[in-house]
Amino acid sequence: MVNRTAPSAGPGPAASADAAGDDGRLWKLARDTLDGNWAGGHTVPSRTLYPHQWSWDSAFIAIGWARVRPERAWSELTSLFRAQWRDGRVPHIVFNPAVSGGAYFPGPGFWSSGTVEGTPPMATSGLVQPPVHALAAWHAYRRVPTEASRAALRRLYPHLVAQQRYLAGCRDVGGAGLASIVHPWESGLDNSPAWDQPMSAVAAEAAVMRAYRRRDTVHADPAHRPTDLDYARYVTMVTAYRANGYRDDGLADRHPFLVECPLFNAAMGASESALAGIAGVIGADPGPHRERAVAITEAVVARLYDPGSGTFHPRDLRTGRLTPARTVLGLTPLILPDLPARQVEAVLAEASSARFGLAARMARPLPSHDRTAGDFEPLRYWRGPSWTNISWLVRRGLLRHGHDRLAAGLRTSMIDLVSAAGCHEYFHPDTGAGLGSPAFSWTAALLLDVLAD
Ligand code: SER
Repeated sequence: MVNRTAPSAGPGPAASADAAGDDGRLWKLARDTLDGNWAGGHTVPSRTLYPHQWSWDSAFIAIGWARVRPERAWSELTSLFRAQWRDGRVPHIVFNPAVSGGAYFPGPGFWSSGTVEGTPPMATSGLVQPPVHALAAWHAYRRVPTEASRAALRRLYPHLVAQQRYLAGCRDVGGAGLASIVHPWESGLDNSPAWDQPMSAVAAEAAVMRAYRRRDTVHADPAHRPTDLDYARYVTMVTAYRANGYRDDGLADRHPFLVECPLFNAAMGASESALAGIAGVIGADPGPHRERAVAITEAVVARLYDPGSGTFHPRDLRTGRLTPARTVLGLTPLILPDLPARQVEAVLAEASSARFGLAARMARPLPSHDRTAGDFEPLRYWRGPSWTNISWLVRRGLLRHGHDRLAAGLRTSMIDLVSAAGCHEYFHPDTGAGLGSPAFSWTAALLLDVLAD
């Protein structure tokens, strides 16, 4: 890996001629990667593995487009919200009708969104993903605060509000002001060890997958992806949700997987804070957003913080207990602007421990799981590898709470990974080798953002 000792400058004035040259090369690589994945109106996460539009990918991608082609940032978010369901949910996949139905599993036929009331004319999934969209829109706007951006914010605002209302209303299964996820895909961290315990309660056998053909393992090494047993459970959970028309009433009585995730709810809280900013710009009332941001933060602390471990954990509503794994999800409530000082300090201690290795000069990238855990797997998707979007979120949290030196260390580590390996989907947490898709959009987009910062 490239050994950087100080944060490099963005594409503008650089600290040294070498850093400037490398940053120029990285800037071009990232911009070319995004351009290559632009599908006209939206950006695919990867041409091979993910050939449609994905919800939280689009949010991160918009942040990068804001740095190079702002009109595409707004187009990215607008096209996603065009697929919003009448109940306010933003589906996690919007299928491109020009791409063959068999290019991705599970494809549009599996989800059958068209048979459900209140769905848009295009085929979508029925699940959601972490609501980082208001956060992204606000971030993009502050990079390019033009009249065109204000007009885009004005158009997006009611959709962002409806998205939050859906999550805070229909998904508050636990009744404590937090949203529950009904599937690990909704967390975005599909096979994180955080889900091992709640997933073990989902009755399914790997043989379920004999009826289907996975496409991900055609494009990526199966040893770097979730297992067939994971997929059997994923399919079982979607089938259960789909059988009730993706309705959320009565979930507590019938759905096999119900979890309050720290990242998902931190995103929901941070998005309320972002909506307060957006409301201020477009002449709406920021007050209710500020109140909701505070209430969500209090609920995240009350429900998901464990004083024993000193970090945040998901709460499994089936058992009522916090799940034990210490994953990178535990660090993400740092993005909440109102997180109390006690929890900020606790998260910093966890992040700086041998488990995650955060430092002003990082020896290795931020992993997705506790490196000291027996089930840490450096190659397998969310069970160890380092991911740019999580590092970006943690870095934003560090900046928000005034930890600039640690934020600089994380930024350098993020840039080093791409400098050595390219815009990969994820990275080996020890060697920095690139894993998954080699031309991954959010890695490129968020690299542009940190380079330009
Ligand atoms: N992350 C999932 C996948 O790997 C889908 O959302 O396909």
